[in-house]
Amino acid sequence: MIDSITGGELPTRHIISIGDFDRNEIDRLLDHAGQIDNKNYDENALRGKILAALFFEPSTRTRMSFESAMARLGGTSLSVGSIEACSMAKGETLADTIRVVSGYADAIVIRHPKEGAARLAAEFSTVPVINAGDGAGQHPSQTLLDLYTIRQSMPIDGIDIALIGDLRYGRTAHSLAFALSLYNARLHTISPKGLELPATLAAELAGRGMEIIEHDDIGEVISEVDALYMTRIQRERFPDSASYFNVSSNYRITPELLARAKRHLIILHPLPRVDEIDPRVDESSHARYFEQSRNGVPVRMAMLMQVLQ
Ligand code: NCD
Repeated sequence: MIDSITGGELPTRHIISIGDFDRNEIDRLLDHAGQIDNKNYDENALRGKILAALFFEPSTRTRMSFESAMARLGGTSLSVGSIEACSMAKGETLADTIRVVSGYADAIVIRHPKEGAARLAAEFSTVPVINAGDGAGQHPSQTLLDLYTIRQSMPIDGIDIALIGDLRYGRTAHSLAFALSLYNARLHTISPKGLELPATLAAELAGRGMEIIEHDDIGEVISEVDALYMTRIQRERFPDSASYFNVSSNYRITPELLARAKRHLIILHPLPRVDEIDPRVDESSHARYFEQSRNGVPVRMAMLMQVLQ
């Protein structure tokens, strides 16, 4: 496969960036996830296969849904308990860790605080590597489940979608924006000052013909859009905590704002949320974020079957 974000050749079946897929490959994978969701799959499809979960950053949904996906297909997962408990804490390089773990498992899923870490891991791995988030870079498995969730409510083609929150450090927003450029979506961006979509990504999307419109607040677009994609301020990636406190109370969705929304509007969030969604919104017909996290299992089952079979 060719990575269309970097142009690099990928010799094994790694999944590092959403740009590793073309539109047809995404659609086929989502169709497969749909079949799996309808219980149409072989429970022993990955029997005897082992997935190594290497998470160098906190995770609940991504890690547990990969492990659940593996178990539902008859495979097993292994991991080190915590980073403090593994040899990285003794100064081992990522390259060495990956060389070693490749010998213990049939695939590796990795989350790391440094952008580019998953691609580096893929260079040293003899088994497929799946990027479960590399710093402020990419999060392709999240994007696939985001697209799957949108597709459950409406065709993705040509939608108007607002990405809200920390678009600078939010890797889920980066991957999703890229994928949506394959579906002629119109992107509305709403972010605090300094947390806008990185200029290089915005330029790449524009070069792919994507229309991107910046707004100052959600109220400007609430009646126009088909989907809202809320994100958390990525506090851990801020150089200092003072700048975090300046922005954390902005960009919040409330039932009052939703009064002007289209009936079919859906609200997505990769979770965890902090304070960007008023809890009263959970009861509204627009909220989809808990279904979205549940969709992580069938989508990751389809991904694991793709790299392991
Ligand atoms: C996201 C991540 O890790 O990038 N979480 C997830 O995988 N669902 C979003 C976040 O941490 O804000």
